[in-house]
Amino acid sequence: MSTDPKAGFSTRAIHAGNPPDSRTGAVAVPVYQTSTYAQEGLGKNKGYEYARSQNPTREALEANLASLENGVHGLCYGSGLAATTNLLCLLKAGDHVVASNNMYGGTFRLFDQVFGNFGLTVTYVDSSDLGQVEAAITPATKLLYVETPTNPLLTITDLAGIAQIAAKPGLISACDNTFATPYLQRPLELGIDIVLHSTTKYLNGHSDMVGGALIVRRDDLGQRLRFLQNAVGAVPGPWDCWLALRGTKTLSMRMDRHQANAAQVAAYLAGEKKVKRLFYPGLPNHPGHALAKRQMSGFGGIVTLDLGDLAGGKRFAEALRLFTLAESLGGVESLVTHPASMTHASVPRAQREATGFTDGLVRLSVGCEDAADLLADVSQALVAV
Ligand SMILES: Cc1ncc(COP(=O)(O)O)c(C=O)c1O
Repeated sequence: MSTDPKAGFSTRAIHAGNPPDSRTGAVAVPVYQTSTYAQEGLGKNKGYEYARSQNPTREALEANLASLENGVHGLCYGSGLAATTNLLCLLKAGDHVVASNNMYGGTFRLFDQVFGNFGLTVTYVDSSDLGQVEAAITPATKLLYVETPTNPLLTITDLAGIAQIAAKPGLISACDNTFATPYLQRPLELGIDIVLHSTTKYLNGHSDMVGGALIVRRDDLGQRLRFLQNAVGAVPGPWDCWLALRGTKTLSMRMDRHQANAAQVAAYLAGEKKVKRLFYPGLPNHPGHALAKRQMSGFGGIVTLDLGDLAGGKRFAEALRLFTLAESLGGVESLVTHPASMTHASVPRAQREATGFTDGLVRLSVGCEDAADLLADVSQALVAV
């Protein structure tokens, strides 16, 4: 049974890559917890030789994600950063990347402190300004890498505009779609070549595994990445793939709840004097609001607020009771993070502050609890500031 590619998002989330098991009829894809496969003779096998190269549970997740992003090939990895690593392995020494100047901190660290040692150079620009992206391109530029909405400032980049700039031979465009998820934004449909996810976040949705994925429409890129996935080897285990696959079945329902709750939290915070700046793309005064409305079908579940200084941010984050102070985001449970000292601690202060990313910022991953309880928690924590 194959899933109709024209079926609705929730139908594909539940069924794509998930046919009943051909041997037993099991409705949930089995966890193929094996490192290798018996071969019938030399060169004779059932299409499975060794689990770094092929695993049926991983293939189920890859097919599911490819369908949700409207791609042709999905490739899964042991973490979001392992997915970025595989993507960067498409490049070689001397190549140049133009990237968003506000992204997940680990992505900067990987670009500068790891691939910088192999001769890759990166220019960071405010990718919400396409003129800056275009101006940064050199004859050596091979990759435009953007995150939208960004972590943690929720800056919005025009993906169709990025795809247009990248429409030159030898130039690849990539978008980290972790914050939006394919339920709210599908970069491949806007012409982007590669979509990246930390499946650790909304796709899994339950904070119980770490994983990553790349999804592409182009066969040549898919084949090259499949080679790199096996050659580099940062593949996820089948159990983690199974957890992510179970997560995507409820993605649309969770995202509806995440963003309904986030909108209420943002509306509440917008009226509070102690909140110096507030970032949520659903707010009409957010600089990327009109663009987000056009290229996304919702505004997501992350709200970032500025409490003025480190002391204010610390007091607020530590006073929250229902929001757990922890790294990560996108699970059903609400989390609070202080990005400057946690998720983005590896980004140099000057580089951070140049984008308006100050020590007073606190990032809320608004979960799926009852909105009234979340609002009560935020309200009591503000008293502590
Ligand atoms: C937007 C974004 N991309 C990539 C990553 C890296 O993913 P992972 O932690 O699964 O390696 C993160 C992690 O927080 C993230 O927030």
